[in-house]
Amino acid sequence: MASAVPAVSMVGITKRFPGVIANDQVDFEAASGEVHALLGENGAGKTTLSHILTGLYRADEGTISLHGKPVAFTSPREAIDNGVGMVHQQFRLVSRFTVAENLMLGDRRGAGRHFRIDPGAVDTQVRDLGERYSLGVDPRARIWQLSVGEQQRVEILKALYQEARVLILDEPTAVLTPREADLLFATLRQIAGEGRTVIFISHKLHEVMAVSDRVTVLRAGKALATVQTTDATAQSLATLMVGRDIKPVTREGQARPDSPPVLEVEDLWAEGDRGITAVKGVSLTVRAGEIAAVAGVSGNGQRELAEAITGLRPYTKGSIRVKGKPVRAGDARSAFEAGVGYVPEDRLGTGVAPSLSIAMNLALKSFRNNCRGPFLRLGPMRTNAEHEISTFEIKASGPDQQTDYLSGGNLQKVVIAREFSASPSVLVAGSPTRGLDVSAVEQVHSFLLRAAENGTAVLLISEDLDEILALHDRIFVMYEGGLSEMPPGASVDEIGLRMAGQAAGAPPA
Ligand SMILES: Nc1ncnc2c1ncn2[C@@H]1O[C@H](COP(=O)(O)OP(=O)(O)OP(=O)(O)O)[C@@H](O)[C@H]1O
Ligand SMILES: [Mg+2]
Repeated sequence: MASAVPAVSMVGITKRFPGVIANDQVDFEAASGEVHALLGENGAGKTTLSHILTGLYRADEGTISLHGKPVAFTSPREAIDNGVGMVHQQFRLVSRFTVAENLMLGDRRGAGRHFRIDPGAVDTQVRDLGERYSLGVDPRARIWQLSVGEQQRVEILKALYQEARVLILDEPTAVLTPREADLLFATLRQIAGEGRTVIFISHKLHEVMAVSDRVTVLRAGKALATVQTTDATAQSLATLMVGRDIKPVTREGQARPDSPPVLEVEDLWAEGDRGITAVKGVSLTVRAGEIAAVAGVSGNGQRELAEAITGLRPYTKGSIRVKGKPVRAGDARSAFEAGVGYVPEDRLGTGVAPSLSIAMNLALKSFRNNCRGPFLRLGPMRTNAEHEISTFEIKASGPDQQTDYLSGGNLQKVVIAREFSASPSVLVAGSPTRGLDVSAVEQVHSFLLRAAENGTAVLLISEDLDEILALHDRIFVMYEGGLSEMPPGASVDEIGLRMAGQAAGAPPA
């Protein structure tokens, strides 16, 4: 690579958590001027390794040097002072502050008491950096006003403002549209082109193939191999990562006109969090055993639609029926009793109770079955949890592990295990594989197919067109609150155009 001394050198890094070795004697090197991808299954130890590099965790064993100089960070502050910045899976911006204020917050030059940062100068710098790296964002905008994609730009700008020489991005594209992801890749190539180091964590193999120079694969806490991207293929990386061949799940799209309708939504209207109408007159019928797949760029009312159907959000007009029985507006209990299951997009917020154990979380929906009088039947709950942990291959130390320490993918499996085991009549799944590794994606897909085969009406909402195409019986597109069905056999381009609000030759709905 560019220079003989690696920009980042981590040797023999070991990090233990109770019951798990998250990093096991990991050697990792990244050069100046390269985009280095870090790949591995859920729970393989990618985030842990990055957190050690950025001073958030201390390694139990091992050494780190930057540009040949040994370092031992005890805080993210020290890492930043040494030019290591990170864009986390969960953003760390102060939402009521402006973009410029968020940048100033981390400015070490403002740390001395007699020094005042000139806000006007920061505005100018935000604009300059934004222009230079195609990360345009209004310096005066408040974070809560920004889209997720824009917030990510602010995180990257912040690292660049702090003069990061090493930039780590943990699954940055999980929150981006395909177009935004492409723009990000151009920015990352540019940052590396200046001689900096970009460490890029992703589960999407085609992204790794497109943007990286080298790839290091972690498996079960160990660094397995580092390869030149040009010597690899998506398939070879998948096999390396998982230790076996991955065969994508597919199903031939076919409507099931004979089976009875299970979910019937008619002229549904619902508001978003800020009181703006988010769902506009949606009508939709899903039959038993059918997978209705809703494509669309996130933020077009998909979440509100899912929440209205699952009773988590009131609707203002229209009707929802499950097997003929009405689901009252905003009545999660009636939705649950009608047999509606929900795998939400926001796992940590609504999916699980992070401070409770896996066993507790798995039992959340069936508490009445798990009680004898006022007492919880802990024994059966643990036995059930052990069963689910092995069925769904959840990587955890056991039923008693708290869910907030699970890796992203394993957290999602807990939610899925719970919703699936209730044998729902209707299953609403919102981006159920976001952030999951290839083998977990394969598993979730086969679980969805199995649910459909068992007669569940599945409403799959996803931004991932590959997923939609692989699993659908019928395809819908949601755009600005409206839902329209694609004709059978529609091409990716046609769906993409509809997602962008263009009707591709057909008269607008
Ligand atoms: N703070 C913590 N306390 C206890 N265990 C932890 C903690 N952080 C991570 N772990 C465990 O360490 C292992 C590695 O987790 P890590 O988050 O590094 O994986 P990952 O490769 O980033 O996975 P994902 O792709 O799902 O994000 C997992 O088994 C996880 O449960
Ligand atoms: Mg992670």
